[in-house]
Amino acid sequence: MSFRSRFSGREILYKHSNIKTRFLTSFGMTIKNMAFLKHIKPSIQKLETYSVKGRPLSPELIKLNQNENPFDLPDELKRELIEDFYRQPWNRYPDVFPMHLLEALSKHLNLPIESIIAANGSNELMYTIGMAIIGKGTKVLIPTPTFFLYEKIVRVFDGELIEVPMKSDLSFDVEAIIRAAQAEKPALIILNSPNSPTGQSILIADIERILNETDSIVIIDEAYIEFSDKPSAATILSTYDRLIILRTFSKAFSLAGLRIGYLLAQPVLVSQILKPKIPFTVNNFSASIAIKLLQKNDLVQERIRYIIQQRAYLYKNLSGQNGITVFRSDSNFLIFKSKNEASVLFERLLSENVLIRDVSSYPMLNGFLRVNAGTEFENNAFLTALKKYL
Ligand SMILES: Cc1ncc(COP(=O)(O)O)c(C=O)c1O
Repeated sequence: MSFRSRFSGREILYKHSNIKTRFLTSFGMTIKNMAFLKHIKPSIQKLETYSVKGRPLSPELIKLNQNENPFDLPDELKRELIEDFYRQPWNRYPDVFPMHLLEALSKHLNLPIESIIAANGSNELMYTIGMAIIGKGTKVLIPTPTFFLYEKIVRVFDGELIEVPMKSDLSFDVEAIIRAAQAEKPALIILNSPNSPTGQSILIADIERILNETDSIVIIDEAYIEFSDKPSAATILSTYDRLIILRTFSKAFSLAGLRIGYLLAQPVLVSQILKPKIPFTVNNFSASIAIKLLQKNDLVQERIRYIIQQRAYLYKNLSGQNGITVFRSDSNFLIFKSKNEASVLFERLLSENVLIRDVSSYPMLNGFLRVNAGTEFENNAFLTALKKYL
């Protein structure tokens, strides 16, 4: 049977970010051409390619859907960084592991270099940890709802997912996590604190209970920790050799487009995770900008304070709306539910050029949308558009 007859007249759309690659049946492919699929792991064939629903960036778009920092770096700083980079040789590889950045992070965090791995975003580090730990049938425990990537990575590596629902108020169910971990003995427990998309944190005392009452390696993804008034798990890093902390420059540090994330753990665990890591993933440009930002602590802190204020502003305005349920958040975003269908409200806001995130397909979040704190102007644009449709 030919590809054409089987899929007659249809297009297969492969979405990759905003680019749509169209494989048309007019290529005259035959099913025989597709026989290679038997070599693709069944677990991969079942996965969906990651895509973000929305619209490309434009000056009119109020973009509050990816928990980014609303502020770019100051213009003069960008120019200075580009001029510095102009003088560097582009034909040479960067360090296998970016030594200058590791030194700067080591100083900033008061931790030895051997406790840190830097990478092209913390997403890369999640995959690296997956390579080091997850094989066929390896059990991995995650609370749900949480960041989509954890489940995907477990599936990519053919691991077994153990899902523990949050409590009905969307807080971490620590007792249930410990109970499930003691029964199932997962190699890995992944906790996102503050958690996306719920915005809630797990207490350090509870992380310690999980570490003390199980023997799993525990990851705390602290992508949003800078927006929280709760302490970081870094405060207990020296006590636990099974603890991994993930951080990113994508949120508080305004560098989502330059891709820098890092991992903290005790040196013995770091030395194992480094083994499967793809070398050279941190490019010289991004590394030097991250170093510069570590020296601009006042600027970063001022922006964090602003975002926290705007989160409070959004919370106040959303909770004052008739028919809206909004949850408090330790992060730079909020989730809320209205009487309207989430997908309809999402589309209506988009028709007003306001892009937020429909999270209604996550477990326990039926009807919910997520919005991140932008500038006051952006937040007002969102609130105005929302009021129009409520
Ligand atoms: C929980 C969580 N971890 C990690 C990331 C991404 O981090 P990075 O940009 O460093 O890959 C995100 C981004 O949205 C996130 O929500």
